[in-house]
Amino acid sequence: MKILVVGSGGREHALVWRLAQGGQGHEVIVAPGNPGIEAIARCVPVAVDAYGALEELAVAERVDLVVVGPEAPLVAGLADRLRARDIPTFGPGASGARLEGSKVFSKQFFARHRIPTAPFEVVATMAEADAAIARLTAAGGTVVVKADGLAAGKGVVVARDAADARAAAHDILEARRFGSAGATVVIEQRIIGHEVSILALTDGTRLEILPSIEDHKTIFEGDRGPNTGGMGTVSPAWVSDEVCARIRIEILEPTLRGLAADAIAYRGVLYAGVMVDAAGAPYLLEYNCRFGDPETQPVMARLRGDLGNVLLGAARGEMPVGSLAWDARVAVCVVIAAAGYPGDVRTGDPISGLDGVEDVVVFHAATALRDGVLVSAGGRVLGVTALGISVDKARDKAYHAVDRIDLPGKQVRRDIGARVR
Ligand code: GLY
Repeated sequence: MKILVVGSGGREHALVWRLAQGGQGHEVIVAPGNPGIEAIARCVPVAVDAYGALEELAVAERVDLVVVGPEAPLVAGLADRLRARDIPTFGPGASGARLEGSKVFSKQFFARHRIPTAPFEVVATMAEADAAIARLTAAGGTVVVKADGLAAGKGVVVARDAADARAAAHDILEARRFGSAGATVVIEQRIIGHEVSILALTDGTRLEILPSIEDHKTIFEGDRGPNTGGMGTVSPAWVSDEVCARIRIEILEPTLRGLAADAIAYRGVLYAGVMVDAAGAPYLLEYNCRFGDPETQPVMARLRGDLGNVLLGAARGEMPVGSLAWDARVAVCVVIAAAGYPGDVRTGDPISGLDGVEDVVVFHAATALRDGVLVSAGGRVLGVTALGISVDKARDKAYHAVDRIDLPGKQVRRDIGARVR
C-alpha cells in the first residue's frame, strides 16, 4: 500500500514509524515531515495548509490512503476534498471535525445525545458571561472557560475563582485574544477528578478502542504551571477495565449513534478527553478529531499488527475490528521542550547526543536541519519513548536517554507516568 501522511510533528513521526516499519511493506510519503521522519520515509515539501497541493500530490502519487495528522486541515475540509477525488482518507470531513473545531457545537452535541458532560452555558457578551459564571458557581466550585474555535491548545482556562473566570472571558470575548475563534465562549462547571485520553478508530459504525493513555498537560511537575500541548504520556493509564467499559458505553457508543442521527459520516479518530470523578463516573471534557500528541507515541510503541490496513478499512467504511494487538509492556514518552515553552519559545538551539541513546525511540516533534546541524524548531522538540515490563522500568529507560540528549535550556517534566506506579 502507498500511504500519504500529512503532518510534521511527533505524532506523525510515530505514525509513520509504525506504518513504515510494521513489516507490511507499506510505502509511506509524508508532507512535509521533519528530519526524524526523513530518516524512515520520503518527505515532500508540501505544507499542511496547502490543501490544493496536497490534493494534487495524492493524485499524482496515486496513493491508496491519506492519513491526516493535525486538526486544522480536517476542520478546513481537506478530507472532504480528497474523498471528492475518490482518495480513501483517514480523518473526518469538516462536519465531523466540528467536534474539535467548535466547542459550542461539541457541547451541544454532547447534550443533545445525552453524553455525560459538565453543565455549561454558551455566551457571546460579558453580561452573559457574568450571569453564566454566577449561575454555574452558585452551588460552589469553579468554572472552565473555553473559546469556541481552534486556539492552538491555548483556548481553555481552568479558572481559580469567579474573578479569574471573568478575566478569561474578557480576554477571549472583548480583547479577542484568539480573533474570531473567540466570538463565542463555553463556560462550564469544573469537574474534579483525574483525566484520561481514550482514542478510538472508527469508520462511523465500528469502534477500535486503543489502550488508555495519560497525558501530562502542564509544564511543571505536580500538574503546576501553564498548560502545554502535553509534556509526556504513559500507556496504559491508571483507569480500570470497569471505567474503560463505562467510557465505551456512556460516551463512545452514544457518540456514534449521535453522529448517525445527525447524518455526519465520521471516518477517523475520536479522541475523548475524559474526566473520571472519585466515584469512577466518566465525563466527556472534549473531543479531538485526530490522534493525540504525545498520546500517539506510546500507543504506536505498543501496537502490533497492520495499522495501515485498519486505517484503510476505516477510510473505506469497512474497518476490521480486533486485528490490532498490544504489547503488554508499559510505554512512557517524555517530551524534551525548548527554552521558553509554552510562552515565547527559543528555536535554533543545537541538539546533540541522539547517537548515544539506547533502547528508546526518539520521535522528532519540532526539529530542523541548519547547515547539517540538527536544531530545535518549535516548543516541543523531541519525544523520548521507551517500553518496560513495569512503569518504573519504562521511566528509567526514557529518563536515562533524556539525560543523554543535550539541548541548551531544555525543559523536561520528571514525573511522567508517576501516577500509575
Ligand atoms: N496532548 C493533547 C492533544 O493532543 O491535544
